[in-house]
Amino acid sequence: MEFPVKAGAPASQRTECALLPVFDDGRLYGATKEIDTAARGLIKQLVRAGDAASRPGSTALIHRTQGTAARRWLLVGCGKLAEFDTKRLAAAVGAAAQALKGTGIKEAVSYLGYGLGKQLDPYRLARQTVEPARAALYRFDELKSRAEPAGKLGRLAVAVESSQVPEARRGVKVATAVANGTDLAKDLGNRPPNVCTPTHLAAIARDIAKRSAKMTVKVLGEPEMRRLGMGALLAVAQGADEPPRMIVLEYKGASAKTAPIAICGKGVTFDTGGISLKPPPKMDEMKFDMCGAAGVLGAMATIGELQPTCNVVAVIPACENMPGGRATRPGDIVKTLSGQTVEILNTDAEGRLILCDAITYARGFKPRCVLDVATLTGACVVALGHVYTGLFSNDEQLADALLAAGQRSLDPAWRMPVHDDYGESLRSNFADFANSGTRDGGASVAANFLSRFVDDVPWAHLDIAGVAWRQNASKGATGRPVPLLVDFLLGAQGP
Ligand code: BES
Ligand code: MN
Ligand code: ZN
Repeated sequence: MEFPVKAGAPASQRTECALLPVFDDGRLYGATKEIDTAARGLIKQLVRAGDAASRPGSTALIHRTQGTAARRWLLVGCGKLAEFDTKRLAAAVGAAAQALKGTGIKEAVSYLGYGLGKQLDPYRLARQTVEPARAALYRFDELKSRAEPAGKLGRLAVAVESSQVPEARRGVKVATAVANGTDLAKDLGNRPPNVCTPTHLAAIARDIAKRSAKMTVKVLGEPEMRRLGMGALLAVAQGADEPPRMIVLEYKGASAKTAPIAICGKGVTFDTGGISLKPPPKMDEMKFDMCGAAGVLGAMATIGELQPTCNVVAVIPACENMPGGRATRPGDIVKTLSGQTVEILNTDAEGRLILCDAITYARGFKPRCVLDVATLTGACVVALGHVYTGLFSNDEQLADALLAAGQRSLDPAWRMPVHDDYGESLRSNFADFANSGTRDGGASVAANFLSRFVDDVPWAHLDIAGVAWRQNASKGATGRPVPLLVDFLLGAQGP
């Protein structure tokens, strides 16, 4: 799909379809107003007659476009003008793209954020046109024997004022890369667990590295993990026949002296719970337990495409969590890569076990900060639902930068506590500490566990258990938090 940037008078723009905003005070603004004037008040009539609603999400396709060069208008409800922001714009673009899907329209021009008195920043305008349009057109049909027919829309132009063209073009470029990374993260999440294995994730990482000269990849197998002493990761993997992988992707966009940002992503390609077996309902959704890994790989693919001036190292521990004769038992004690010993009281608290070895390994790169991304706890879903990513951090500046990146990219996070007292229940009589404690405050207990492996390095943990996939009829991966990660990394560029 292509997204050219267009400047110029809306009424004379030739297109199969002009996307025009309708606000809720009965007055017309921006391109809608200009086109209405050229069409001698026809849009005003349609709005008055109730044929074009201002309710966010509603759309009306109009064919009698007299007086203008557009063959059709798609009137798109945008709510109150005073409340119109990039989030509303994204919703309007999404609704429009959804409406166009069911038509034969191959090409359209979006005026949804154009010339509205209150200026939307053209970079964000372009991003929140391209990203929601791409999201609306995303499909996962690689395993359907007969694919449903795709929409015809192949080109959506972003209309801006001529002075805004360069910024809008930059927005389209970044948005396209973000959408590519997000689509990759969705594909990986949606792939079934018999296809998306640790080996598969490693193959994808190799692919990403191959596409960029500044990216290198290294994949550790079981013998190397054993040699290094990754006892926690190996304990999770040992119940499965599927071999584990530790995937390391390095992006070098800045000088070798610049300390990298390290990002670890939980890659449990299927989480049965192990011997602490999960109940059957919805267990299929535990194929999404590698969405942390998928988000990190998606972000690395985007970074490889955009080539920003920063250094990033992705560390992805990948394995299955299965029960079996060789599986870890509740009560087993293992030695982590850090040297600390852990009593595994609950084999279903496996994410923190693979991540603690990944975090220790990542610290070997002397990073300026360590992030980790994981579908870590059901408790985070209880706390924040499916709206916010849970953000836990030991560093105010890092936390603020991540919160801001989430706001900007419409992929928001909410700060949660990591106080020492959340670790009380991890006390063990037999090892340094246990992997699981009280259910109450479980998301913070898990974060406390991870914090024992970071010491004084600036660190942030993103619990995406509630936001990485949708359930029920629209079941599928969301690609979150690729937009947040990319905005954070682009904000961390050096001179
Ligand atoms: N992958 C799950 C967390 C999860 C559960 C994410 C449901 C999304 C939906 C994780 O490995 C897990 O099982 N966590 C346990 C931890 C507990 C045993 C301390 C949980 O949250 O119940
Ligand atoms: Mn689990
Ligand atoms: Zn898990």
